[in-house]
Amino acid sequence: MNFASDNVMGASPQVLQALLRANDGPLPAYGSDPITRAVERRLAELFERELTVALVATGTAANALALSLLTPPWGICLCHREAHVMEDECGAPEFYTHGAKLVGLDGVGAKVKADDLESYLRGLTSHVRQMPPKALTISQANECGLVYSTEQIAALSDVCHRHGLRLHMDGARFANALVALGSSPAEMTWRSGVDILSFGATKNGCLAAEAIVVFDPELARTLEYRRKRSGHTLSKGRLLAAQLEGYLANDHWLDNARHANRMATRLAQGLRSLPGVRLAWPTEANEVFPILPRSMDAALKSAGAVYHPWSGASLAPGEQVRADEILVRLVTSFATCEEDVRRFLSIAEAAASKAGA
Ligand SMILES: Cc1ncc(COP(=O)(O)O)c(C=O)c1O
Repeated sequence: MNFASDNVMGASPQVLQALLRANDGPLPAYGSDPITRAVERRLAELFERELTVALVATGTAANALALSLLTPPWGICLCHREAHVMEDECGAPEFYTHGAKLVGLDGVGAKVKADDLESYLRGLTSHVRQMPPKALTISQANECGLVYSTEQIAALSDVCHRHGLRLHMDGARFANALVALGSSPAEMTWRSGVDILSFGATKNGCLAAEAIVVFDPELARTLEYRRKRSGHTLSKGRLLAAQLEGYLANDHWLDNARHANRMATRLAQGLRSLPGVRLAWPTEANEVFPILPRSMDAALKSAGAVYHPWSGASLAPGEQVRADEILVRLVTSFATCEEDVRRFLSIAEAAASKAGA
């Protein structure tokens, strides 16, 4: 019963088989191989347009390199104050941009709202002392498991573009958000005004593979140099491409995400129906955030369940976690088995009955 994250599992068999196939024989190095070309074509097909792709092994590298294309050292990159780029990347965006400043905005459920963005931008001066805002990055699905609708993305990109900012999407959980919305990759990105995407694959079935997808060729001019200079150009580039080849074939990535989301929905429904349990935010993709009685948390932990406590900083106004409660995060993945979900819920149910007895 490991719900600690969607990166606690290894890779899916389809991805491993693709890696094995790619392992045979000599191929050109540094991403000049036919598998990399085929993945670039496949992504262009999926996104229904020409694009520039650079493959990397981590989400942090994808985000930091992407943001370095958008924000000069004297610029501001906006995000939610609980965003992964802000809290969990050890300053990589600031490092890769050579000193740009990340500024975190408030918002319930780790979501940036277009109105808040507009009023923040209107409050800035254009004096030389003021670092100019250059980019906004949003996570899809986000750190509280919420998904931006295409209308919300379009509203944010509209504000960004009117004020001269570019929009980046951290898609570490891109597939989970996509199947949740029932949208197309094009609609959820460039048709809604996204300029650069970190297309995550590691959490949803790969071992370590992410794609930086740039929709505007002008923005991508320096990407290859930045990737090499930062040590993220693999000499055996086929190993990144092969993972994505297996991941994208036969809708495997979408099937994986649907499974993960289904498991999360089941967990959410089961937990919500128990006395004393409520959800901090709705379950929209593959993350569940229940507020549990501490006695239930102890019963689950002693039965071997693994998950992390979570911050309540983005709770809705009026909502709070009492001293006898704990807010936790449960993440499901392509490899979550139904039996683990069933067991987790039956332990939680037994703990709820005991508390009510
Ligand atoms: C929202 C978000 N972005 C990006 C990442 C990618 O991080 P990593 O550098 O660990 O691959 C993660 C992983 O936890 C994440 O949750």
